[in-house]
Amino acid sequence: MFEHDNNQYDIQFNKGISAGRVNFNTSSSDDYLTNENFKTLRTNIMFCGADIKVIVLTSSRENEGKSTVSAELAKSLAEAGKKTLLIDADMRKSVLLRRNVVSQNFYGLSELLSGQAGIDKVLYNTQDPYFDAIFSGRFPPNPVELLGGERFKQLIESARSVYNYVLIDSPPLGTVIDAAVIAARCDGAAIVVTPGKITVKEVAEIKDQLIKSGCKILGAILNDIESKRTKYYKKYYRRYEYTPSGKRIK
Ligand SMILES: Nc1ncnc2c1ncn2[C@@H]1O[C@H](COP(=O)(O)OP(=O)(O)OP(=O)(O)O)[C@@H](O)[C@H]1O
Ligand SMILES: [Mg+2]
Repeated sequence: MFEHDNNQYDIQFNKGISAGRVNFNTSSSDDYLTNENFKTLRTNIMFCGADIKVIVLTSSRENEGKSTVSAELAKSLAEAGKKTLLIDADMRKSVLLRRNVVSQNFYGLSELLSGQAGIDKVLYNTQDPYFDAIFSGRFPPNPVELLGGERFKQLIESARSVYNYVLIDSPPLGTVIDAAVIAARCDGAAIVVTPGKITVKEVAEIKDQLIKSGCKILGAILNDIESKRTKYYKKYYRRYEYTPSGKRIK
């Protein structure tokens, strides 16, 4: 299908390499409650340990908020001074690409993995110097093959040496296998769950699939799309209010 020589374009994050700059749009940058929740999530990720750098976010079904959460979390980690790369690995239906207008003539993950482009053509800087992104690229005929291939492995290993965190957005694992293939290259997986919308059995099934891929499950991220966020926020606040000496206030 692709006539290009897979080794023609190197996968090395050399200093200053970039395809350009985008103003990365996250959905809720001015929403205080959401910002607070992402700071908590960021803290939880940081406490997972220094060996957890490459993280895939997946869910059971579509529209549970994987793309929104990965973008917000990447932004939040960057704001904390952690150099973060967001990889949009949903090559079947990229939302991040649509949300962040890039020129018509661009390359993304599918072109990188199929050997049609090098890092210099796919790596975008954003308004935050600590936040870079690779968008999905055009829909390839063989996403699973590309994600299971040597170039994806090289991409992750190379990114590891440059970034503090690599977050990977993926398609729903209840629908296609891509996230499990990605997880095999990651240090950890976070499952985005919409409370009340999916069953415990569904979550258990994708958890088993991720474990089979050899990836550590970091936990579930509850994304309450129906806006019960105020309630969760209060809960979080009660649970985490401590004095500087570590003594719990409530
Ligand atoms: N916490 C939230 N509050 C309100 N709206 C949300 C929240 N999280 C996500 N959304 C909205 O829900 C929709 C689906 O979100 P998103 O695209 O992030 O889901 P997804 O899991 O990546 O979907 P897909 O499986 O199709 O890739 C979007 O319109 C998004 O703006
Ligand atoms: Mg998505």
